[in-house]
Amino acid sequence: MKRYADRRVLVTGAGGGLGSEICARLSAEGARVAAADLAGTDLGPLLDSLTGTGHLALELDVADEQQWRDATSQLEAAWGGLDVLVNNAAIGSIATVEDEERDTWDRVVAVDQTGVWLGMKHVGPLLERTGGGSIVNVASILGSTGGLGNSIAYHAAKGAVRTMTKNAALHWATRGVRVNSLHPGFIETPQLIERFGGSPRHQAMLANTPMGRLGTPAEIAGAVAFLGSDDAGYMTGSEVYADGGWTAR
Ligand SMILES: NC(=O)c1ccc[n+]([C@@H]2O[C@H](COP(=O)([O-])OP(=O)(O)OC[C@H]3O[C@@H](n4cnc5c(N)ncnc54)[C@H](O)[C@@H]3O)[C@@H](O)[C@H]2O)c1
Repeated sequence: MKRYADRRVLVTGAGGGLGSEICARLSAEGARVAAADLAGTDLGPLLDSLTGTGHLALELDVADEQQWRDATSQLEAAWGGLDVLVNNAAIGSIATVEDEERDTWDRVVAVDQTGVWLGMKHVGPLLERTGGGSIVNVASILGSTGGLGNSIAYHAAKGAVRTMTKNAALHWATRGVRVNSLHPGFIETPQLIERFGGSPRHQAMLANTPMGRLGTPAEIAGAVAFLGSDDAGYMTGSEVYADGGWTAR
């Protein structure tokens, strides 16, 4: 079933472990994909690997409001509208409440929290002009639990994504724009394994996940594909967990 036939999708942080898998899944379901990431990210191989034609690469720092204006205008000019936004870009910091540095805090909040707000602010009206659409905000289990007792800035930002999602969902509820948050548990991306593989943090991720394994990027891409599609047509303001049971405790 091609749930995304004739759908135009923007994915931020498209060059990362989950972003690239989300682009692959949505294109396989028929979407035209605008893959957005920071300037200098080589998105060529990703675009070449996607199913179908007509995909675009965009330079977009999600923390920069002017770049959102430019990206939105570019997409409207190229495609005449947009159907789905996946706010996926984020950065992390594992520092604790005592150890976090102010500069790092500010950057994490700018990208992970402000970036999601700016995306909704600029793309929501475009979805509305297009005749309706869906926004999927990629949050985290760390946006609604205490996690592993560190990553204070990331928790702050992802918690805000959770509540901003509900607020925006109410704002657009009668206007054809759905907004939902997806909360992955720990996912075995190449980037995560390179950074933490075999470390005590990796062991803690496994030990605290009821299913006893990390998730796969494909399992997250499948959940994004569901939320962005008409199969989730009566869902807005929802928080959906793909976390191996983490939040069931
Ligand atoms: N991997 C996990 O275990 C996990 C778990 C829960 C939630 N998440 C969330 O999933 C999403 C994707 O994570 P990932 O594991 O693929 O991360 P990743 O680090 O592999 O990829 C993140 C991508 O975002 C891009 N990016 C960073 N700053 C940006 C900015 N200012 N503007 C635009 N792009 C920017 C990076 O260049 C990179 O391509 C994030 O929102 C993350 O918080 C990941």
